[in-house]
Amino acid sequence: MEILHVSAECYPAAKVGGLGDVAGALPKYQREAGAIAKVVMPAYSTPFREKHTFDLVHQGGLWVGHEWYHFNIWKESTNALGFDLYQVDIPGLLDTKGVYGYPNDTERFLGFQIAVLDWLNEWQHQPDVIHCHDHHTGMIPFLVKYGYKYARLQHIATVLTIHNAQYQGQFGWDKLYLIPSFDLWKSGILDWNGAINPLAAAIKSAWRVNTVSPSYMEELFGNANGLEALLNMERHKATGILNGIDDEVWNPAADEMIEARFAVKDVTKGKKANKLRLCETFSLNPDLPLFVFIGRLVGDKGADLLPEVIGRSLAEHPGGLNFLVLGSGDAHTEWMLQQAKQYAGANFNVFIGYNETLSHQLYAGADFLLMPSRVEPCGLNQMYAMRYGTIPVVRTTGGLIDTVRDFGDEGGFGIRFFHATAGDIVHAIGRGLELYGNKTKFSKIRKTVMQLDHSWNKAAREYLNMYTSLK
Ligand code: ADP
Ligand code: GLC
Repeated sequence: MEILHVSAECYPAAKVGGLGDVAGALPKYQREAGAIAKVVMPAYSTPFREKHTFDLVHQGGLWVGHEWYHFNIWKESTNALGFDLYQVDIPGLLDTKGVYGYPNDTERFLGFQIAVLDWLNEWQHQPDVIHCHDHHTGMIPFLVKYGYKYARLQHIATVLTIHNAQYQGQFGWDKLYLIPSFDLWKSGILDWNGAINPLAAAIKSAWRVNTVSPSYMEELFGNANGLEALLNMERHKATGILNGIDDEVWNPAADEMIEARFAVKDVTKGKKANKLRLCETFSLNPDLPLFVFIGRLVGDKGADLLPEVIGRSLAEHPGGLNFLVLGSGDAHTEWMLQQAKQYAGANFNVFIGYNETLSHQLYAGADFLLMPSRVEPCGLNQMYAMRYGTIPVVRTTGGLIDTVRDFGDEGGFGIRFFHATAGDIVHAIGRGLELYGNKTKFSKIRKTVMQLDHSWNKAAREYLNMYTSLK
């Protein structure tokens, strides 16, 4: 069984969020489970590209609308990621420093997808499955099925994983000319609510569709940012497969990025050393319980609630806890968090930006991780946190339901709350403080969360079973 994953991100080559982590880990575990899994992604101008060597495997030219581009496909030559990594290099289109957020993102990702399909069309040895991730790769299942040029690929199974249905990549019908020619009778498949919608087109065209947790799949049948009716129509081929984590990258016993490595047996000592260092760096008192937030500072993550939560928690428990935030995103939330330093004084600090090393240090040094997400298809942070003995405080939604059980319930180990409101979050933090005060219980839960198995092994097998069922 050979699988080609197509993704806009793949850690460590390029990562904006969890999609990068998934594309960088799942293929590795699929290989361990006996399959051949490869990844193809865009060749952005990143430090990764400068530091690694690549072999040229294909060259071609393509049209995106009226623009002609030359493209190269490169293969990373040292197998650094544990699987074959291919990068699509389209000078003038994909060689940006960043991944998303450019005015021509539609053209950029169409160019990427056309290059992948042209290459596959000429590849002697074709994969059994093309596994597409999110809307940036959503035109592939459609073009494989209906694109005139790609009839040779029609027998290859296509799978779509929806990592986040909030983002659908819509563009206007005036840009139809960008799409390589296809059976025009099938134009309706591209449409959702009067626009060309790559995520909807992929949901309609892929052989199988899945989301990254079973609970999020259920939620999408009721509310999928406008796609719920479509998902209900396609329910027969939709399923939820819970993400895992790369337990080699996220392993407190071997993590070179943290101050002190530790395992379950020396968790108290290890966490203390990491917390001490983190608190020194951010001028926080290491004797107080430390709550951290790591993530994109956007409404879906509930990041806008943080300033009020910090203010109210400190008013209820003066000098009783510390907060540390690592993230970047909405300018207003970034600004509000900077302002919060004025009223939260020595009990709060924030690092605005993206910093992979620092994220490891926060998971390792914190006592609690806050995730007040309004939408959370899976969420990897809570699983990383738990691996590092940090107790998650999460809203009851999506993948957080499938990975965190409240410590008040039988067999529980985390803290859950229902509403994305400052009141509910402050109350959950209060429960965290009570738990922290009960040293025996706190230490027991810390050890429990470290030992939960969230590795990719189970999901890797589930995906393989899904592919097999398509044959
Ligand atoms: P999403 O993909 O929706 O952002 P996930 O929980 O799936 O959410 O994954 C987020 C990933 O991005 C995690 O690996 C997390 O550690 C990382 N991350 C998010 N923000 C930052 C940041 N500012 N600095 C470093 N890592 C970050
Ligand atoms: C998306 C989701 C996140 C999920 C990640 C990886 O970015 O927002 O919840 O964990 O994809 O699947």
